Amino acid sequence: MISQNLLSYGLIQSALVPFAILLFAFNVASAAERQNCSAVSQQTCDVAHKLGKGINLGNMLDAPREGDWGVNVEPEFFDLVAEKFDTVRIPIRWSNHASTSQLAIIDEAFFQRVEMIIDKYLARERYVIINMHHYNQLFGDKLNPNEFSVDESVVQARFLSMWKQISLRFKDKSDKLIFEILNEPHGKLENRAWYDLMNQALAVIRVENPNRVIMIAPSGNRYESLDELANVLSNGYDKNVILAFHNYAPFPYTHQGTSWMPWFPKGVSCCSPEQKNLMKTQLMKAIDWNKRFGIPVHLGEFGANNQSSDKDRATYNKEVVSLMNRYSVGWTYWELASSFGIYNPKSREWNQLLLDSLLIK
Ligand code: GLC
Repeated sequence: MISQNLLSYGLIQSALVPFAILLFAFNVASAAERQNCSAVSQQTCDVAHKLGKGINLGNMLDAPREGDWGVNVEPEFFDLVAEKFDTVRIPIRWSNHASTSQLAIIDEAFFQRVEMIIDKYLARERYVIINMHHYNQLFGDKLNPNEFSVDESVVQARFLSMWKQISLRFKDKSDKLIFEILNEPHGKLENRAWYDLMNQALAVIRVENPNRVIMIAPSGNRYESLDELANVLSNGYDKNVILAFHNYAPFPYTHQGTSWMPWFPKGVSCCSPEQKNLMKTQLMKAIDWNKRFGIPVHLGEFGANNQSSDKDRATYNKEVVSLMNRYSVGWTYWELASSFGIYNPKSREWNQLLLDSLLIK
């Protein structure tokens, strides 16, 4: 009896084995790999994984004055974006809305406008990333029309003072609000200069926001500087940081015909096997960095502008998004409603092909 039972048990077991193997194989193939969070808190690890799919409200509050670059934050964007995306990244040019002294007192009307927008998304339980964008003098870049300059001696002090005000004002907001210290540090703010300032800004923010998730960036947003960043951080202490990186490879495709990179002529298509390879190689650098150092990563910007066909742009989007999803890396597409946009604010319509290409499972 016993042996009979054992026998039939054994038979059932062996019949189940191939099925179990199949199930396992299917799960491995379909389940996303989680990021390595060994160097951060559980809370930050969870946030990194929940950022999911997102979009930038680009060219709006990051223009010298809202509206200067043709798009404003419209009330309709709140539901619209929240219905489709988990996360919204709001690039902000605070520096042009603050006094010229080292105190950089942020203009109250502007502060209220930003706060209203943040609150709309938090009320919809979305993650909100706010940053410091296009403080051109900090980098030694040429200023934009309608951008004012300040005395060189106060440029960095203003940066820290603005963060002090922002972090104080928003300290009681939901922990779905994330601060990103600076967009694409470059120029005068390379390497050591950037890491020194980044650490100072971190310290300023931590006074009022001891646990809030903060996004940091490598110098120049260059992959080559990721290791250097890891060295800086390994001397540090902060368990609540996520690394933000950007990827626009292949640039001759994504930035063709743009006014700010006129050396990339129009007419480039996407995506050949070589282009796909380049995209993958670049993106994998960030993923490998996460595996080595245990700090989660987030793709803050990628996108192709409207000089190329929708079909090619959709192919490009799917290529990036599928890879990021596979490694559980959250992403925020650049951007909603301007030249890289996927929504037409005039006709009030999504570009369905592009939207679908971002929302693939
Ligand atoms: C960076 C710039 C932004 C530009 C985008 C695409 O975020 O700050 O102005 O549109 O990259 O080039």
